[in-house]
Amino acid sequence: MSTESSGSIENVLHEGRKFPPSTDFASNANIASEAEYQQMWDRAKDDPAGFWGEMAENLDWFRPYDSVLDGQMPETKWFLGGKINASYNCLDRHLDSWRKNKAAIIWEGEPGDTRVLRYQDLHREVCKFANVLKKLGVETGDRVTLYMPMIPELAIAMLACARIGAPHSIIFGGFSADAVADRNNDAQAKLVVTADGGWRRGKEVPLKAAVDESLERSPSVEKVVVVRRTGQEVDMVPDRDYWWHEMMEGASAECEPEQLDAEHPLFILYTSGSTGKPKGVLHTTGGYLLGTTMTSKWVFDLKDDDTYWCTADIGWVTGHSYIVYGPLSNGATTIMYEGAPNWPDEGRFWQMVEKYQVNIFYTAPTAIRAFVKWGDNWPNQYDLSSLRLLGTVGEPINPEAWMWYHRVIGQEACPIVDTWWQTETGGIMLSPLPGVTATKPGSCTKPLPGVVPDIVTKEGASLGDNEGGLLVMRQPWPSMLRTLYGDHDRFLQVYFSEIEGCYFAGDGARRDEDGYYWIMGRVDDVLNVSGHRLSTMEVESALVSHELVAEAAVVGFPHDLKGEGICCFVTLTSADGPEELKDELKAHVRKQIGAIATPDMIRFTNALPKTRSGKIMRRLLRDIAAGREEVGDTTTLEDFTVLARLREHNE
Ligand code: WTA
Repeated sequence: MSTESSGSIENVLHEGRKFPPSTDFASNANIASEAEYQQMWDRAKDDPAGFWGEMAENLDWFRPYDSVLDGQMPETKWFLGGKINASYNCLDRHLDSWRKNKAAIIWEGEPGDTRVLRYQDLHREVCKFANVLKKLGVETGDRVTLYMPMIPELAIAMLACARIGAPHSIIFGGFSADAVADRNNDAQAKLVVTADGGWRRGKEVPLKAAVDESLERSPSVEKVVVVRRTGQEVDMVPDRDYWWHEMMEGASAECEPEQLDAEHPLFILYTSGSTGKPKGVLHTTGGYLLGTTMTSKWVFDLKDDDTYWCTADIGWVTGHSYIVYGPLSNGATTIMYEGAPNWPDEGRFWQMVEKYQVNIFYTAPTAIRAFVKWGDNWPNQYDLSSLRLLGTVGEPINPEAWMWYHRVIGQEACPIVDTWWQTETGGIMLSPLPGVTATKPGSCTKPLPGVVPDIVTKEGASLGDNEGGLLVMRQPWPSMLRTLYGDHDRFLQVYFSEIEGCYFAGDGARRDEDGYYWIMGRVDDVLNVSGHRLSTMEVESALVSHELVAEAAVVGFPHDLKGEGICCFVTLTSADGPEELKDELKAHVRKQIGAIATPDMIRFTNALPKTRSGKIMRRLLRDIAAGREEVGDTTTLEDFTVLARLREHNE
């Protein structure tokens, strides 16, 4: 991991506003006082096994575990000897109570079609699909790729995989056929579940066609199940491709959940790292489920009568943890929406809040910045008074966007939980507790119970108040990743080799005098575009795979809506390229990775700034991309004229 830019991080944000929770909220909250939080946090720090053992009583176990925590970071095992099933915890255990008739998932498609699945309905569908998977040859331990739109069948397929112990690997529907093939291959997936297509801003996004293309390059996949969603024409290959509805017709609704080891893999989710191919983050059953169950209860203050809506796509970790596993394990009602926030118009989210009387709303800063731009007039047309709690995730939120969220959406009555976490952490790590923590706009505030963070120098020395440094975790937690699929060495190297004895998150941060954490962004070569992680390396590789590109360096630059935009410096094999080539390269990257990776800016240059050892100095390119006049330290630069020429190009 490159730490080129991680030396000292300057702190430029000064934010003095503070918003304590109302006494009304606090008196009903799941964690109700500072004293209660402090006592839980201290206990978890001093006696993690005791604390998490007690918390694990919130889950249903087929066989109790023999021990809570074995080993030390990075090689920790949780709840060894325990037998558990995530789908049982999300479904079956609610069927013995009145919750059997409670809405588990309220779904709305982009065209406006709706479906409500009560816990009983979801259980039935999951059991049936688990039987379909078995019939198609999927066994415990086999990997199943889910490449689907945001439709109920996605949640059903996830829970069916969990039921039989076949780890799912969900690929965001916006990724390209090539990305699907890479992930299928890395996971050696046996079966793919997809749909003909999905709806996005009124257009049909073809998914089955991309799967067909990906399968030319991913031979491990034997079978494909296709949900009919848009009704578009698709090719069905005999003995390989099966319609979901046809398979479900004859499937039995009885399927005993597998009694799995607590450490049995629940899923793989690919995420971007600073180098090379995407990393297959692997989460296991017991620890992950405990983490997402408890954090949903604490941070979202989930109550049985809440209607909860997380707007993420299930293709990202937020959707895994906080649309499906966390809420359903708590027996909550979770909303799932298929489409875009500005379809048919910019009021769609607020119209849905009013329609479903949403109480808890969890979204991303990039969405909030878009709402701000679209104007108050959209939310102001709707009754948002049902809202009682707001959340954000994915990137640092600008204090002004936070204030807008607080004022216009929360009507100054809702606590905002700014939740910091990662694909790797499985669940929320740093966040306000809505009934306890006085929030400060732009800060994810404090560690949850069981989370022991620190801010350190590159050498691992703890820093003092308000000193920017690297964010690390000093203690293991149940929902942490266990490995990178098929590459345990890389797991050790990426997360545990940087700072001795600690998990290194890749983010810079500072802690203020009140013990509040302020995330300052990534310190490695990972971009955060609209809250989605992309590696500069992946975009560079995509560019270089074009026949006219000799070399490419990709950096982020500040972007009003996306947080970070993608700027590519490209050296061509021939002297100069026509302007049209820029569009061609943008389309090329889009085809290779997917629309989210489409470059915002491409600049042709005849040389890139490098150190004498040949490393591209992305730091300098970042300054240029951001239009900064003064660039940082250039003493290690090999050829000074490169910089001058790049700057000229700027004008
Ligand atoms: C960033 C998303 C500031 C951070 C759940 C992290 C945040 C990366 C926040 C993980 C937040 C996430 N404040 N930055 N509240 N939440 N991040 O794996 O850089 O897609 O390392 O997980 O997003 O992104 P990932």
